[in-house]
Amino acid sequence: MKNKIILVFTIITFLAKADEGMWMPQLIEALNIKDMKKNGFKLTAEQIYSINKASMKDAVAIFGGGCTAEVISTKGLILTNHHCGFSSIAGLSTVQNDYLKNGYWAMKPSEELNCPGLTVTFIKRIEDVTAKVMTSLNPSFSEIQKDSAIKATIKNLELLAKKDSHYEAFIRPFYYGNEYYLFVTETFKDIRLVGTPPESIGKFGDETDNWVWPRHNADFSMFRIYASAENKPAEFSADNIPYKPLYSFPISLKGIEKGDFTMVYGFPGRTQEYLTSYAVDLLINQQDPLRVSLREKRLNILDADMKKNDTLRLMYTAKYAGVANYYKKWSGEMAGLIKSDAINKKKKQEDDFLTLVSNNPSKKETYKSLFNEFKRTYQEYAPLSKQYDYFTECLWGVDAFKYAATFIPVFNELKLKQKGKENKFDELLKKTQPSLPFKNFNKETDRKICKAMLETYVANTDREFMPRFLDSLLTVHNGNTIALTDFLYNNSSFIDNDKAKLMFNDFEKNASLYERDPMYLLASSIYLHYQKTVIPQIGYYDRQINELQQVYVKGLIENVKDRKFYPDANGTLRVSFGKVADYEPKDGVLNLHYTTIDGMVEKNKTGLEDYYVKPRLVELYDKKDYGQYADKNGKLRIAFTGSNHTTGGNSGSPVINANGELIGTNFDRNWEGTMSDVMYNGNFCRNIVLDVRFTLWMIDKYAGAGYLLSEMKLVK
Ligand code: ARG
Ligand code: ASP
Repeated sequence: MKNKIILVFTIITFLAKADEGMWMPQLIEALNIKDMKKNGFKLTAEQIYSINKASMKDAVAIFGGGCTAEVISTKGLILTNHHCGFSSIAGLSTVQNDYLKNGYWAMKPSEELNCPGLTVTFIKRIEDVTAKVMTSLNPSFSEIQKDSAIKATIKNLELLAKKDSHYEAFIRPFYYGNEYYLFVTETFKDIRLVGTPPESIGKFGDETDNWVWPRHNADFSMFRIYASAENKPAEFSADNIPYKPLYSFPISLKGIEKGDFTMVYGFPGRTQEYLTSYAVDLLINQQDPLRVSLREKRLNILDADMKKNDTLRLMYTAKYAGVANYYKKWSGEMAGLIKSDAINKKKKQEDDFLTLVSNNPSKKETYKSLFNEFKRTYQEYAPLSKQYDYFTECLWGVDAFKYAATFIPVFNELKLKQKGKENKFDELLKKTQPSLPFKNFNKETDRKICKAMLETYVANTDREFMPRFLDSLLTVHNGNTIALTDFLYNNSSFIDNDKAKLMFNDFEKNASLYERDPMYLLASSIYLHYQKTVIPQIGYYDRQINELQQVYVKGLIENVKDRKFYPDANGTLRVSFGKVADYEPKDGVLNLHYTTIDGMVEKNKTGLEDYYVKPRLVELYDKKDYGQYADKNGKLRIAFTGSNHTTGGNSGSPVINANGELIGTNFDRNWEGTMSDVMYNGNFCRNIVLDVRFTLWMIDKYAGAGYLLSEMKLVK
């Protein structure tokens, strides 16, 4: 019996370790392929990443600002999440043709819709340029000299890499600047919407289910890349033709079972796995709770107003989703870290590290004082971080402030114009001026937010640290933030539809008057105050912390020999591998690793607004016409969970089986596991994936766009 328990324990620790990590694709051969094969992977590292042959990397792209997409046909068809395509779909929607609400499917190529501004970027090659960057450094350099030497070298290397080509290039630091890698990229600019489910299905469950498992939303949308006749990136043109990719993923209809190998290939944005106990302490005890409480205040006000009528609901729906997303993520992260006793675990790691190096007295001294430096730095950083959060999450949560402050450069340019100097006033004013009436802004909603935010801000900030003009306004209004807010909203031209209309008619002529608008005066005073005081100080400490982390991570890599270290996510291409896995969210509860359409319809029957679907879905469900998309029990699956280490930016990433076939599209994580950005735990951190069979069923049976399947390679 005893032996058995020990055995089980070693397996669990081993597996937990095996699934952690976001690995650089060009190092898979050297670092991971053995582990991957042990876990069931059947292909070679070269099939994942190669610069000589077509490989999977040629079918994985950065989609828009911060998502991932995968190529799934030889005609440039790409798959990503609905929430990744959201702003493009919204941009194409009008009241008459509301593609968000009704969905959209092109039934022939000419119906594919151009998405202005949307780009898709592939990685052509990755190169280790650490040595090249480091040769520019001289040991006698001060920190500032070091910084500027590195910047200059990086710029030169980037220019050199893209020389005479249509490629772009960028260099990013890895392991806090211990290493540098160059990425040569190719960006396509003619991207067209092929199809999207209606929002009620693509975003099924909305905020109620966001970050939650069990999950039932079909979070996908499809686009196509268009290229010039030479298959090169080109601006939108009717003459462009579908892009012929170097590689596209075959799609598996065989489905998944618990324990199956899974690999996620994409562009994770940011993780901080090597933080010290001092940083985690600050996160749990100050940053996360403060940010959560400030966002909660804002969300409550928005929620109440959005319930009043459809106009307000539409005005604020995108904003609400954005604010709610990280509100929920931070609260999950905090809960997870507390439950896992993260601070003490980190402390123990630090102690273990000191013990490990203790046979070398000079090393021990170095790292002991390093941890003391961390401690001191975070003590000084904490109050600044609080002030910074009160700026970004409290004052800048007021749209009026954020918006009015965008006029600072407009007034500056006007002064140049008035002096007869070269200036950009006219074009800048045109850009900054809103189309009226305001689209996503309601004066009365914002007034309520302002009252709540100013009240909290004033109650938590010393007068001496406040922007000067706010301090004066408080004096004038006897500290009454409600009266102060009403004064601003009743007297400003910047946030009132009628007054703004008048203002933009004679903006230049009466600029000196508008420059004394109370909302503008306060907004610019807030902005300039933080730009001059807190932001540079935060920048200073961020650099300090980065340097300490650089030493710590270098120490870990050099001294902890039995562990492989992966670099934190930084928006570059990574591979995470793991398996299809269930988990226990709490004692006595087991969350199954997949969901089916039955659960979607069950949720829909509750009548809750977030679970509304169009009757068509229920009709199809009643017919049970699942065809080749059903699992072996005849069920139609929607989503599944895996142990892959993922983060924001991995949305839309291809999820691949042991044979390199697409089995799903990554879109979220479980709430209990959102702490994985700081401390991954293989026992309960799960990524959430849309089963590709549901995607195909939607296209084929729901949308009647089955003709698209003929350009895909389906593996049965
Ligand atoms: N939680 C997911 C991610 O971080 C989805 C966010 C979009 N959906 C939403 N309801 N806000 O991006
Ligand atoms: N939903 C996230 C994204 O948009 C993914 C995650 O944070 O797990 O990238």
